[in-house]
Amino acid sequence: MARKEILLNAFNMNCVGHINHGLWTHPRDRSTGYNTLEYWTGQARTLERGLFDGLFIADIVGVYDVYQNNVDATLRESIQLPVNDPLLLVPAMAAVTQHLGFGVTVNLTYEQPYLLARRFSTLDHLTRGRVGWNIVTGYLDSAARAMGLAGQIAHDERYDRADEYLEVLYQLWEGSWEDGAVRRDKAARVFADPGKVHKVRHAGKYYNVEGYHLAEPSPQRTPVLFQAGSSGRGQQFAARHAECVFISPPSKEAARSTVKALREQLVLAGRRPDDIRIFAGTAVVPGRTAAEARQKYAEYKDYASREAGLAHFAASTGVDFGKYDLDAPVDYGGGNAIESATRTAQQHGWTRRKLLELFELGGRYPAIVGDARQVADELQSWVEETGIDGFNLSRTVVPESYEDFVDLVVPELQNRGLYKTAYAEGSLRRKLFAGDDTLPARHAAAGFRRGRD
Ligand SMILES: Cc1cc2nc3c(=O)[nH]c(=O)nc-3n(C[C@H](O)[C@H](O)[C@H](O)COP(=O)(O)O)c2cc1C
Repeated sequence: MARKEILLNAFNMNCVGHINHGLWTHPRDRSTGYNTLEYWTGQARTLERGLFDGLFIADIVGVYDVYQNNVDATLRESIQLPVNDPLLLVPAMAAVTQHLGFGVTVNLTYEQPYLLARRFSTLDHLTRGRVGWNIVTGYLDSAARAMGLAGQIAHDERYDRADEYLEVLYQLWEGSWEDGAVRRDKAARVFADPGKVHKVRHAGKYYNVEGYHLAEPSPQRTPVLFQAGSSGRGQQFAARHAECVFISPPSKEAARSTVKALREQLVLAGRRPDDIRIFAGTAVVPGRTAAEARQKYAEYKDYASREAGLAHFAASTGVDFGKYDLDAPVDYGGGNAIESATRTAQQHGWTRRKLLELFELGGRYPAIVGDARQVADELQSWVEETGIDGFNLSRTVVPESYEDFVDLVVPELQNRGLYKTAYAEGSLRRKLFAGDDTLPARHAAAGFRRGRD
């Protein structure tokens, strides 16, 4: 039987400190160059050389001001602040690559669906069908206040709004322009056939939209839909909409049960268990030898900031760890942030000391350290033992963490038959699912199509 090929996303953000905090101070790190096109085009080329499926670009609206009730640590350590717009990076990277996908995070709470629909369609055209959207609804009060709200919308209601938002988008992307609406017929002087372009009329609880989708149908129509919520309501949302799901499990056992629950929810939603690809977050520090990897890891640790990791986690959970003594029990109740992260911390009873211990590289993803064989063993065991499809690889020192992975680990995975040796042709969706460019008929979006079987 052919072995399951591991999927790989690089995980990055248009900012200095992303997940593994403090490493921007490492002498070889170049992440302060995030303001330049060269930084991004160079990385895109490296990832495509390594046949990565995608670059996943996180984003945050708002600032991390929960820790010590201010933004000081966030600014000092550059914890996702400053942060630039992720969508604007894509055309430059698409211009220097042929196959690399781009999963871009956009928080829908603060964007009008009518405008966001056009922005994604534009990118899907310009990338020739290589764009994905990581659907997030936000978890920061600072964002809500910056956008004119008194505070955040309640956790489950964020998902209710998102459900309706997606319905509006499906109408625009899938239903407004029929297949064949665009004729481009110079002789007949007909660009588009008026009989095949429809006005969307949506009057809902949260959104009212009446209008034609501004963009003509793009290769994938709906971008590949990514999602990362792991709460009960989050999984329900994923089961209806998501095609790729990011999880950040603290252990293989936790991963296995999340994967099982997600695939069960998918079947309940009328889809197939393998209609989603599940990616687990990890960091990898590979070396030419095991000793070199260990030495590199020790060196990275010297530059990492555990406190910055804690400040980031404070915002993720809504808990100000600055108020707690190192060994005092932490009250994780009552938060309105990332429910799954909070629950994990609560279940394990993590104190401030324990969290600081865990954040060796300044972040909460467990790192895999070793030579190519050891790293490949571990990645392989994660896939085989948990049912995930691949990894969301957070960066450490940039760009060497991607270069090391491509040069050292990719060939080992290929030798084992666990990784592709060439890209498949076509759109991101076609590459990920070996199916069509557009969503299958059993996906919720298909119900909004017009003029198709
Ligand atoms: C791997 C991963 C990446 C995420 N990236 C982002 C992001 O870029 N921006 C954001 O606002 N939230 C991000 N989140 C948070 C999720 O979108 C979501 O808000 C969170 O997981 C809450 O879901 P839950 O309450 O259903 O568990 C991410 C979560 C995970 C696990």
